Amino acid sequence: MNLIIFGPPGAGKGTQSYNIVNNFDLKQVSTGDLLRSEIKIQTDLGKKIESIINSGKLVSDDVVNTLIRKIISDPKNFNRLIFDGYPRTISQAYSLEILLKEFNQKISIVFNLKVGKDIVSKRANGRVICTRCFRIFNVYLNPPNSENHKCEKKYLKKRADDNSKTILKRYETYVAKTKPIIDHYNERGLLFEIDGNQKIAEIYNKIKGILENIKDWHYVCFLYKFLEKI
Ligand code: AP5
Ligand code: MG
Repeated sequence: MNLIIFGPPGAGKGTQSYNIVNNFDLKQVSTGDLLRSEIKIQTDLGKKIESIINSGKLVSDDVVNTLIRKIISDPKNFNRLIFDGYPRTISQAYSLEILLKEFNQKISIVFNLKVGKDIVSKRANGRVICTRCFRIFNVYLNPPNSENHKCEKKYLKKRADDNSKTILKRYETYVAKTKPIIDHYNERGLLFEIDGNQKIAEIYNKIKGILENIKDWHYVCFLYKFLEKI
């Protein structure tokens, strides 16, 4: 199954994707992470997009759709993707639909993590990420310690776009460009709204319960089709 996680900047998309990947045979695709790795290795694309990301605006649809095509077309990823931070515009949502159809796939479920501006701002401001194991922590809300993190402290870094000015701009961009897509998925009956103000583990338990039901349902459909053929 393929799924999408929506939510404003700092809502917990990456945190929940990490938990899902650890328990289900799925692969996370964060367009933010893909773009940041282009910046890190200073590719031509990376040099072009650095200032856009640091200003809190969106990178062009063409650039992002090209990155996503590479991932969807890879047979290793067939029907097992978590889209984190994609699609982000209605045009990206339509491109995703076309791409998935081309590779004989679909979206099974869309989660929307609902969190207000003040909370996401605090979360993004306090975020630190381990550049070695890629776990996401928060110096205020979910601090790394010797029990939950084994890598050395030197690997913990802040993101360049996690400053108050850019966080505000990212939030505004989300409201203007990304929030309207939620209706698109609601109309298709795929949307699950989740209260993102709860604790990380509580949110994950809800997601897990829903995904397990879908997995069972897929199994029933598979069995039914199989029995029909006998
Ligand atoms: P991206 O990297 O996707 O950033 P974002 O959407 O702003 O989301 P974040 O990664 O900031 O937040 P998150 O929801 O993943 O939260 P997290 O789990 O880390 O994109 C960055 C930029 O790239 C964009 O601004 C744009 O320029 C560009 N871009 C990316 N995709 C694009 C696209 N498709 N099209 C065009 N441009 C694109 O959690 C945040 C913090 O909160 C952490 O510290 C965590 O520990 C903590 N936390 C999480 N959940 C909880 C909880 N329940 N309780 C307490 N703390 C929590
Ligand atoms: Mg993220």
